[in-house]
Amino acid sequence: MLQEKIKELTGLREKARLGGGEKRIDSQHKKGKYTARERINLLLDEGSFEEFDMFVTHRCSDFGLNEQSFLSDGVVTGYGTIDGRLVYVFAQDFTVFGGSLSEMYAQKICKVMDKAMKVGAPIVGINDSGGARIQEGVKSLGGYAEIFQRNILASGVVPQISAIFGPCAGGAVYSPALTDFTIMSKKTSYMFITGPKVVKTVTGETVTEEELGGAFVHGTKSGATHFIADDENEGILLIRKLLSYLPQNNLEDPPYNETDDPIDRLDDLLNEIIPQNPNKPYDIKDVIHSIVDSGEFFEVMRNFAPNIVIGFARMNGMSVGMVANQPNYLAGVLDINASRKAARFVRFCDAFNIPIITLVDVPGFLPGTAQEYGGIILHGAKLLYAYGEATIPKITVILRKAYGGAYDVMSSKHLRGDINYAWPTAEIAVMGPRGAIEIIHAKEAQSITDETLKAEFLKEKEEEYRNKFANPYVAARLGYIDDIIEPRNTRFRVIRALQSLATKKDVNPPKKHSNLPL
Ligand code: HXC
Repeated sequence: MLQEKIKELTGLREKARLGGGEKRIDSQHKKGKYTARERINLLLDEGSFEEFDMFVTHRCSDFGLNEQSFLSDGVVTGYGTIDGRLVYVFAQDFTVFGGSLSEMYAQKICKVMDKAMKVGAPIVGINDSGGARIQEGVKSLGGYAEIFQRNILASGVVPQISAIFGPCAGGAVYSPALTDFTIMSKKTSYMFITGPKVVKTVTGETVTEEELGGAFVHGTKSGATHFIADDENEGILLIRKLLSYLPQNNLEDPPYNETDDPIDRLDDLLNEIIPQNPNKPYDIKDVIHSIVDSGEFFEVMRNFAPNIVIGFARMNGMSVGMVANQPNYLAGVLDINASRKAARFVRFCDAFNIPIITLVDVPGFLPGTAQEYGGIILHGAKLLYAYGEATIPKITVILRKAYGGAYDVMSSKHLRGDINYAWPTAEIAVMGPRGAIEIIHAKEAQSITDETLKAEFLKEKEEEYRNKFANPYVAARLGYIDDIIEPRNTRFRVIRALQSLATKKDVNPPKKHSNLPL
């Protein structure tokens, strides 16, 4: 008797595992995509997946759906482990009604989200869906909003990661957008609010899915994705790696990783890295690789606003968030995209107890109508706000330029920067020498009619200004800089600073929530 029942159960499980059937699975594979269950198995530690709600089916009888029903109803949900740490997952199954979202499907996702929140574990969602299940109408819309609400409540409580491995269109895009990190696979994924057909009708533009919302577009232009993966295998590895830097929830510290990289490892090359000519660039990533454990830097949003570099690394085994101006791209200037990119990263790190290390070499904010019309005032304020609001340990090293408002913004002492160092090559001033003397000596310069004499005068004044202000000592005399350090010692000094801040406590005034300039 029991044997019969077990056979029935096994049969049902096998049926559920087939999703929409062999033919649709083949078609999924032909597109270069894995099925939902294959993705989960690749993501989680082997054999660790515990599935929920395999027997759930939809409750819709409209449009002939009572005749068409699949076990699991188009989404696979449950929990498992990644490197032995608990994680809740859902993976949309494109082989069932194109992965479209029904009432019951949404309930399944909400169930794992609720469980993840109760126990304080990350949530990973894998998206591959035709959007709202058209036959279910408003029930599907309601289902989406239930998920959004949970994304919002989970934000800043447990890490939320979205992979986009297929279509993700219409309002469905807002769940990934609400999560902390998104990963898109090249060629097989896209995200947009309205597809190419609607775009053609409304604006007359002709555009492909890839051009409108492919991984490259979101990774380089909109900033809606943090990682562009060559394929799903790489995407899944990225998720696993990303989680290795993060705590399980906002009440825990990030995991500690044993390292054999000595804390007092010096790097003489850093003493040579700043070019003689202040207008010459260098690669800030060389500095990052030099100071972090084993040179390992996990960059986030690599292809978006490369004038600022963000990502995770470890220092003496401790997880840290790195934020660094990149002189190699637009001289490391702060613009709208760089500000948005870094602001959200700083806020993420702050929410999840990950100390921030800021490397500064910034000539200022990018001037121009494009930036002003685009709202650089508000976007720049976001970064300022994020740093000023953050209570995690904040360590800053000014390598070269820290001019104007950008000096203030980049985790300055005045924004509760905990330990602020400068290299001897630092130039901390209201603006660059040339611009400054052209303003303060404008009248005198105008009165000199001979061009050669004028140029000599300006050069002399520029040198005078450079000697007076383009150095770290004025700031250090005021205590705005805690110490001026030799570049080759940076790793050691930053790690010591981190150690001294391990028990740091800081609070913001009680409030319902802040009103950051959105
Ligand atoms: C029900 C759907 C579906 C949907 C696809 N299917 N989308 N079923 N509701 N939204 C079904 C198809 O009928 C088909 O069933 C199977 O899934 C695979 O679809 P195909 O079209 O054969 O696949 P493909 O050619 O790869 O095209 C995929 C697609 C296309 C681009 C996603 O299916 C599509 O455009 N679907 C409609 C997308 C859409 O407009 N959704 C609503 C958006 S509005 P069979 O039985 O043949 O396998 C929205 C609002 C959300 O989502 C708001 C939230 C706030």
